Amino acid sequence: KDIFGADRKNSAGTNIEIASEWQPFRESVEAFTDHHWTAGAIVNGEVQTGDIYKVTAPYDRRESVGEVAFASSALVAKAIDVAAEAFPAWSATPAAERGACLQRLADLLEANTGELVALCHREAGKTIQDSIDEIREAVDFLRFYSHQAATEFAAGKPVVGFDGQERTLTYQGRGVFACISPWNFPLAIFLGQVSAALAAGNTVVCKPAEQTSLIAFRAIQMMLEAGVPAGAIQFVPGRGAEVGSVLTSDVRIAGVAFTGSTETAQRINRTLAARDCDPVPFIAETGGQNAMIVDSTALPEQVVRDVVRSAFASAGQRCSALRVLFVQEDVADRVVGLIKGAMAELNVGRPELHSTDVGPVIDATAKQKLLTHIGALKNQAKMVAQASASPDCAHGDFVLPTAFEIRGINVLQNENFGPILHIVRFKASELDKVIDQINQTGFGLTMGVHSRNERTYSHIERRARVGNCYINRDQVGAVVGVQPFGGQGLSGTGPKAGGPHYLYRFTKDVFTA
Ligand code: NAD
Ligand code: ALA
Repeated sequence: KDIFGADRKNSAGTNIEIASEWQPFRESVEAFTDHHWTAGAIVNGEVQTGDIYKVTAPYDRRESVGEVAFASSALVAKAIDVAAEAFPAWSATPAAERGACLQRLADLLEANTGELVALCHREAGKTIQDSIDEIREAVDFLRFYSHQAATEFAAGKPVVGFDGQERTLTYQGRGVFACISPWNFPLAIFLGQVSAALAAGNTVVCKPAEQTSLIAFRAIQMMLEAGVPAGAIQFVPGRGAEVGSVLTSDVRIAGVAFTGSTETAQRINRTLAARDCDPVPFIAETGGQNAMIVDSTALPEQVVRDVVRSAFASAGQRCSALRVLFVQEDVADRVVGLIKGAMAELNVGRPELHSTDVGPVIDATAKQKLLTHIGALKNQAKMVAQASASPDCAHGDFVLPTAFEIRGINVLQNENFGPILHIVRFKASELDKVIDQINQTGFGLTMGVHSRNERTYSHIERRARVGNCYINRDQVGAVVGVQPFGGQGLSGTGPKAGGPHYLYRFTKDVFTA
């Protein structure tokens, strides 16, 4: 049973350290080494043509991966027509049946792991472990939401008023939901949003990030194969400023699930507010300026392991990733020295290699932004360490893991979405000031704490305004149904994905006599 008492298991994935699992896994991925994918919008089950976006591999831009035909504004409008027409039938479909389609999709993802891992490497630049984790998380979201819908939305709940009158409460879909997702979890977040909206009885028009449309397209093909009706799910790849903005401006959209940057969430919020129609739910999961606080009682070796994973795994391209490490000055020299040593051991290289710890960043724009930040810090801060790259990185969008000591968190204006760690020393007497400074950034996504003093870590946990606080471990890799994930303030609206309340936000409560 999971923590909510449900009889449900998370995906086991593949353990690549076991030879009998590694060999077939590797063969299934290598079958797609030279594959060239093509994709386009899927409206009413039909793949559409459109302006072509060429996909190349982030680790080597000379390698072609595929092509995507982007949706036009007219096609987005048509997709909404189709989804609106399909809504009454899908919302009337029993929740258990809706859930069964999503369970079948989870099975299909597991059966197609080789292709999906190859897409994670070649389209998104994800390492082997990140790719496996990506598919596991997508599977977990599907099983979690479909299980919850089947158990909690299947039958009406009797509600007896103080006057003795009995009424029935049912949770029903709201209409057409727009789901807009980022490239850093191209399958897990994409399918997490879509599956929640569908499980709750909505029809969906979804837009993946432009950088990762191929893997999303394959997921939608599998979703149709799993039995989701062609009217219930519409797929419209394209650029945010075009397709995303047409989608969110349409008055027929009854709710928006968005994950991405805080700036884009604020833009969508304004678009929704400007529409001349009823207000609708807006679920936004956004960026962070995530900190870790390390006091003098922490175990330095454990700290360093968790800092390196939290800051540099996935090339720092997790919303949860560690950006600012606060180390108590009594232990700072030792901890910083160990971080330096650990960074010298990091392998930066092609994502499909077993030996790679850190792969490329998503594209040249992201790389340029990060290099500009590193360049600016070189003039104002002390560089602690920078990892080195293997020679096969020459043609890709790589940014070397880099650590700086900075004066304070307020030096940082924005989220720097890549493998850059900022370190700040603090005195024991300044602990509350540190927590307040972290809170004052306005972000509130993840926080890490390393301390063996229960009073200290409990105090930090209570005073910090963050969505997910992790004690004496790394601060990335929230597990569906175990660590419901989501922030507060500039980091998001909630409810937490993979938690007990997420699905309800996609529904309306209906009371009948
Ligand atoms: P982004 O905001 O640039 O794009 C996200 C999505 O929004 C994309 O599909 C994009 O095309 C679309 N979009 C862009 N402009 C739009 C507009 N005007 N209208 C509608 N849609 C629009 O973010 P990104 O670069 O893809 O992802 C990285 C960001 O996502 C980081 O800030 C990261 O912290 C955040 N993120 C947050 C979480 C979380 O759970 N809190 C998870 C993953 C990523
Ligand atoms: N859920 C993802 C993590 O925890 C963002 O890293």
